[in-house]
Formats: sequence, C-alpha cells, structure tokens
Amino acid sequence: MIEFKNVSKTFILGKREINAVQDVSLQVNQGDIFGIIGFSGAGKSTLLRLVNMLERPTEGSIFIRDIDISKLSAKELRKQRSNIGMIFQNFNLLTSRSVSGNIAYPLKVAGYKKAEIKERVAELLAFVGLTDKAKDYPEQLSGGQKQRVGIARALASSPEVLICDEATSALDPDTTQEILKLLKKVNQELGITILLITHEMHVIQSICDKVAVMEDGRVIEKGEVFDVFTSPQHLTTQRFIQSVQQDLPSPSILQDWQATNGGKLYRVIFKGSVAVDPVLSTVTKQYDVGFNIVYGSVQELQERLFGNLIISFVGSEMNKQKVLEELDARVDIKEVKLR
Ligand SMILES: Nc1ncnc2c1ncn2[C@@H]1O[C@H](COP(=O)(O)OP(=O)(O)OP(=O)(O)O)[C@@H](O)[C@H]1O
Ligand SMILES: [Mg+2]
Repeated sequence: MIEFKNVSKTFILGKREINAVQDVSLQVNQGDIFGIIGFSGAGKSTLLRLVNMLERPTEGSIFIRDIDISKLSAKELRKQRSNIGMIFQNFNLLTSRSVSGNIAYPLKVAGYKKAEIKERVAELLAFVGLTDKAKDYPEQLSGGQKQRVGIARALASSPEVLICDEATSALDPDTTQEILKLLKKVNQELGITILLITHEMHVIQSICDKVAVMEDGRVIEKGEVFDVFTSPQHLTTQRFIQSVQQDLPSPSILQDWQATNGGKLYRVIFKGSVAVDPVLSTVTKQYDVGFNIVYGSVQELQERLFGNLIISFVGSEMNKQKVLEELDARVDIKEVKLR
C-alpha cells in the first residue's frame, strides 16, 4: 500500500545539513496498523510529511499503491492527497466552525453538493459517536471529542490511508484508549490502512500489527509487534519496551533478595502457547530441586501470550546444573546479570 524505497530527506539550514530521514525502506501493507516509534527528533513527523506530500524526498521514492508520489505534478498531487486522511496531536480544528462545519469543510472544498455533504456528515458523526454534538463548537468539546471530530474530518473524503501524528499524546490515559479503539474500528470496519507515529510504546502495544523504531533519521528495527516486543535487538527498542513492561524487580528488591537468599537468578521467557509451568515443575522434581518465582508477568500481545519469569533454584549445585541443562534444551532460559 505504502512503500518507502531508500528515502532520505535533508534540510539545509544556512551551512548546516540536517539529515532528518536517512535511507529509510519500509513496506506498509493494505489493512495494516503500522506504528513508527522514536524519541523526539528521530524524524517521524518528517517521514509522515513525505507520505502526505507536504515535503519531497531528497533521495529515494515513495509509492502509494503503484504510484511514485515523489514524481507527481502539483495537480496530480492534489488528487492523491484526498486519498490520505491525517489527524494531529493538537487536532487542528477550525474554531469558527461547528463540529458539522469542520467535518463538512474538506467536502465543500472538494466541490461536493450540499445534500451529499449533509448525508456524509451525518454518517461520519454517527461513526465517531458525536451525533448529539453536531452544532457545538470546538471550544465546547473535550480533547477526546475534538480528536473524534478530527478523525471524522480525516475520513470525509473516504481515504484509503489514515496517517496520525501523535494523535493521542495530548489526551489522558482513558481518553487515549477510547481514541485508539476508534482507530481500530476505522481500520477494521472501513478497511483503512493506518500509519501512525508516536513516542509512546503503549500505543504501539494497544493497536499496531507492525512497528518500526526510528533513531537519528534511520529505521533501526522493524517487524511484527509481537516479535519486536518479545525479542528486541536494539538498545533503544529495549528502552521503549521497558517503559511499558518492567521485566525485573526494582534494584532495592533485588538487593533485599540477594541479602536474604543469595544465589543466581534466571529469566525464563515463553511465547505463544508454550506452557512453562509444567516443564519447570517436571524437570526440577526429577532432580530433586526446588524453584522460587521471584518476579514475573504474563501479558497478552496481539492475541498471544508472552511470559517473563524470574526464578531461583534450591538444591545441590550438581543437580541445579542438570536442571539448567535440561531446561536450556526446552525453554528460553538465561541467567540474570545482577549489577
Ligand atoms: N522544515 C525543517 N527545516 C529544518 N529542519 C527540520 C525541519 N523539519 C524537521 N527538521 C529537523 O529534522 C529532525 C527530525 O524532525 P522531526 O520533526 O521529523 O522529528 P520527530 O521524530 O517528529 O520529533 P518529535 O517527536 O519531537 O515530534 C530534527 O532535527 C528537526 O529539527
Ligand atoms: Mg514529530
């Protein structure tokens, strides 16, 4: 649906060159909810602005379906743009127009007939759950309601793609979840491909199928959300993931644990349907070794289970060694390096 092929964008500021996007290649398939995450300045907004053609790439090509949008004329661009809806962190609503007026605006500009506009606006209001707010003005709305108007407006021209620049960053956690649910509905019921950028890992975790991590203009890691979450390769990715899932107890608890128990700690990771409990209890029983679960969590990610257990073993050194060898062959187990 959207393909970036070796895309770079360099801004020239006086004598300085800013490489905002560097050699990015990405493929977003039709029907994906594709998330791009990165710290401030990573180049996320620039990448989105290349998709809706507010910026032209310095190098490389961007395809939407099979059209190379980096080569379009101004007139062709305008036509293509209506195929891409966009929502923003600060909503960008017209304060002088009512909710209906805001949603109708892009349709008016595109030259739709009055009756058509009326019908379409009513349909969109119902879709985003704002029928009773049609005549209100933006200043009378909560943040979540404003973003619903933003979404309705972005959908007005029936685009195939919706791009979202930090669409929930200005909202509280509950409202964020409501808006994410609405985006999921946009994707599932209308079949719209969504490309979103965020600096919040929980947004990716909640609704995305695929994720790319950006740093200094480059994509440093990408893949299915489940795979990236369960085995992040890059340090930056690990930091983002730690922001949503603590995978180790706090240092003070670890210190307490070492002072009272001592010994080594191990991390067991299990993914999907592998039930780790029976494996652990069978193997330890066989060698007369006990085990303690010191810490752990089991989470659902993209409708699959992902577990992380921190355990210790009690028994003779020789038997513990045998247990470790046996477990190593059957589950993902590693010693936890304590600082
Ligand atoms: N029009 C511009 N002219 C010059 N430099 C720019 C321009 N737009 C962006 N940049 C620079 O490009 C880099 C990437 O900026 P961008 O806005 O894409 O980052 P971002 O990942 O969206 O950050 P944030 O999370 O803070 O929104 C930054 O160093 C920024 O200063
Ligand atoms: Mg940005």
